[in-house]
Parts: sequence; structure tokens; C-alpha cells
Amino acid sequence: MRILFVTSELHPLAKSGGLGDVSRGLAASLHGLGVDVCVVLPAYSQAKAALQDIHTIAQLPPLLGISGGAVLSGRVPGSSVPTLLIDAPSLFSRTGGLYQDENGADWIDNAERFAYFAHAASLIAEGLVGNWVPHVVHANDWHAGLLPLLLSLKPKPRPATVFTIHNLAFQGNFPKHLLPKVGVPQSLFTPAGIEFYDQISFMKAAIRYSDRITTVSPTYAQEILTHEFGCGMDGLLRERAGDLSGILNGIDTDEWNPAEDGYLANPYGQHNLSGKRICKEAIQKEFGLESNRTCPLIGFCSRITQQKMADVVAEAIPTLIEAGAQFALLGEGDPSLEAALADAGRRYPRQVSINLSFEESMAHRLQAGADILLAPARFEPCGLTQLYALRYGTLPVVRRTGGLADTVIDTTAETLKRREATGFSFEEADQAALLNAALRAMCIYHDSLTWRRLQEQAMSQDFSWDASAATYASLYIDMARCR
Ligand code: ADP
Ligand code: GLC
Repeated sequence: MRILFVTSELHPLAKSGGLGDVSRGLAASLHGLGVDVCVVLPAYSQAKAALQDIHTIAQLPPLLGISGGAVLSGRVPGSSVPTLLIDAPSLFSRTGGLYQDENGADWIDNAERFAYFAHAASLIAEGLVGNWVPHVVHANDWHAGLLPLLLSLKPKPRPATVFTIHNLAFQGNFPKHLLPKVGVPQSLFTPAGIEFYDQISFMKAAIRYSDRITTVSPTYAQEILTHEFGCGMDGLLRERAGDLSGILNGIDTDEWNPAEDGYLANPYGQHNLSGKRICKEAIQKEFGLESNRTCPLIGFCSRITQQKMADVVAEAIPTLIEAGAQFALLGEGDPSLEAALADAGRRYPRQVSINLSFEESMAHRLQAGADILLAPARFEPCGLTQLYALRYGTLPVVRRTGGLADTVIDTTAETLKRREATGFSFEEADQAALLNAALRAMCIYHDSLTWRRLQEQAMSQDFSWDASAATYASLYIDMARCR
């Protein structure tokens, strides 16, 4: 079974959030199952720099008026999964982020960049590289959204297409005058095609033209069929509900393993948590917090956005500190939300530390050193940080939505008795509900026996990719059969 896995992120070549981790972990797990999977992503400068033994494996013909493109190959550090980069220096070789410039503004040519990416990937799907033709093309998020459409225009037999929605809120919608630049026939610019409120929508193109659609948790798969979570696409998704399924993300349990994590001051395991105390001391020092063994240390490691309720978190910090917690944040995002959080940091310099940066190793150390991970969200397709927290014995406080609802079991008298509880969850997306859950967690933290039991339950959960990768593999088999 040959699978072309098309993604805009792959850890450690290019990552802005969970998509990078999922591409890495799922592809590795499929590869381990014997699936012939090849990952393809854009040749961003940082990806080119990180790929080892990099070389050109094929030239691309002129596409969308851009000549001189090529497909690069090489070795991804720590991985044996075949990986290709789509190189078009005028589109991808630049300093800045994957999707935004150094000032946080979207690259003005994102439509052209990711249209080119999709056109190039469609040529790979037709055998451009060594005549390798996939049975199934697995496209991820809007950046690869035009690919299912482009392949749907090819005569059969052609590779089957599956599109995974990692976040329906990011849709890749662009002005209609760009239609010729993205290489999509004018005839498809209709409400039944890719038109979305008079714009071109890469997300809509994918949902409309993919053979199958998945998203990253069962609960989110249900939620996106509703007006509240559907981001304007719920009508179309309801039409396609028969082809939509939710497959829960896994985590890379080698990369995120507290017992062998080279980033930690002292690795530790489920049966010996003394190392976790050393990690707490270390993170207090690293973040400039007062050294204190007994106060609950609340970590927050996330994009700073409305999605992640960062506005509510900023408002809740004073109450958490007055109740005796410390708060350590690692994240970056919306400048006004960053400013509100930084204000809270200045108010409590020894109890609150706001680190506005993106730093992989620090994310590991924070997960290990914190006692509680605050992971609220207005919506959450899956969420990975709560899964890392569980594995690191750091009890998550989450809102019951999307993948958070599917992965964290709230602590109640009942769930404690049944030894099922793994964290704390709340229903409403407001400060009172968030505080209620966080303060419940802080209260139980001081009951060390119960806390220890919860940590054990959390750490014994299996969120490895094994089960979900097998589900994707059977989906691919099913799709390839129906081509
Ligand atoms: P999302 O993809 O919506 O941002 P996820 O929880 O699925 O949320 O994935 C977030 C990923 O990004 C995790 O691997 C998390 O550790 C990482 N991450 C988020 N912010 C930072 C940061 N500031 N520094 C390092 N890693 C971060
Ligand atoms: C998106 C979602 C997040 C999910 C990740 C990987 O960024 O916001 O919930 O875990 O993709 O699928």
C-alpha cells in the first residue's frame, strides 16, 4: 500500500503546532506497520536546513508561471520515513514563519504558495518521482486543500484522496481575482464548487472534492456538523457526513517519554516520580519563579489565541495566584493577548512567568516540571498538549470540547473510585468554569495520596499512535479497493 502524505508541517523540519507532530508520528507509525508512506512538504528555508544529505530527485515543469522548481529528498533527523520537499525558492525560501512574515502578518502570496505546493504534489501523485504512484493521497489541512480537487479532475484510475481537517477555523480563503493564479478552472468557482462567500476556499475545495474526510477526534467530527463549530462549512459537511469520520490523534511516545527525555534535568517514570520534583525545581529556576516545592505549579504551553481561551486565562491568573499557585507560560501568538498575559507576569514577578517564545525543548521541560497543565479551549479538534501532560504525570485542566473531551476524564468521587480519573474538565467557556476546575485541581494537589493515584492513572493511559495508525491503514485499504 503506497501512501503520499501531504502536509505543510513535519517535526523537526517545520512546525508551528500539532500538525507537525501528527505528520511525524502518524507517518512513522504507518511506516512501522509496513505501509509504503512518503511525506511531502514545502521546502521552507528551515526545512531545507534541517534535512540531511539533501539532494534534487526530480525537476518540476513550469507550474502556475513559476519555473525552476524541484523535488528534493534527504534524511529527516531521527526518522526513516521517505520525505520529499517541494522546492520553489521564490515561494518558500525566506526568513520568517511558515505562513507568516517576521511581523506576524500572513505572507501575501499564501494562495500562490500553497496552490503551487498542491500542483507539485499532484505531479508526484502521477509518478513524477521514480514512477512511484500512490494508491491513496492523504492531504492535510487547507494548505494541501487544492490537491483533492486537482486529482478529482484526473481520469480514473487515479489515486484515491482523503483529507484530514486538523482545524476547520483555518480555511485558506482568498480573493476571487486570484483564481487564475491558483490554477483552478473558472467553472468551479460556484457555490457547488469552491466558492465560499465570494472567495476561493482551499478548505471547501478539499471537503467538496476529497473521496473521504477525516478529522482528529470523534467528538470534533460530530461538532463540526453543527452551526456552532462548523465555521460556515457545516452545511457542506453534513452533506458529506457519510464520508466523514473522526480518528483520534496519537502521540509519538519515543519523542515524548519522561523516562528518556534528554531535555529534562532528571528523567523519571511512572513508578518513580522523584525526578519530576527535580524537573519542577529546574523549571522554577529557568522561568525565574520562586523556588517552592509545595505550591502547585500550573503550566500553559500553547499558541496564544482566542481558540485556546488565552484571554480568559489572563483574567484568571490573579485568582490562581491568590489561591497559592505559580503560573508558567510558554507560547506565542496574538499580540494583544500576549500583552494581557505579560501584564499579569509583571504583577506577580516571582509567581508568574510569561515566556513569549517558541522553543521545543522548553515545552518538554515545562510539561515535566509543572504539576498541572492548563489546556482550555473554545474549540479543540484534538489537542496534543493534554496528551503529553498525561504522559508526564502533569494533570490537565481542560474544557470538555473536541479531543479534550475524548481524552481527559474528570475527577469526581465516582471516577476516582473507579480509578478512571485522569484530570479535570469544565463545560462553559468562561472564567468561572475554568477557575472552578483549576481550583479543584489545586485542592486535590494538596492531598498527596490522591494526587499520586491520579498521576499513575494519567501516566498509564495509552495514547500511542498504534491504534489510530491501524485505523488509518484500514481506511486506506478500503479506499484503494474502491478506486
Ligand atoms: P495546536 O496544533 O492547536 O496548536 P496542539 O495541542 O495540537 O495544538 O499542538 C501544539 C503543539 O505545539 C505541541 O507540540 C506543543 O508542545 C507545541 N507548542 C505550542 N506552543 C509552543 C511553544 N511556544 N514552544 C514550543 N512548543 C509549542
Ligand atoms: C490543529 C488543532 C489541534 C490538533 C492539531 C493536530 O492545530 O488545533 O487540536 O491537535 O491540529 O491534529
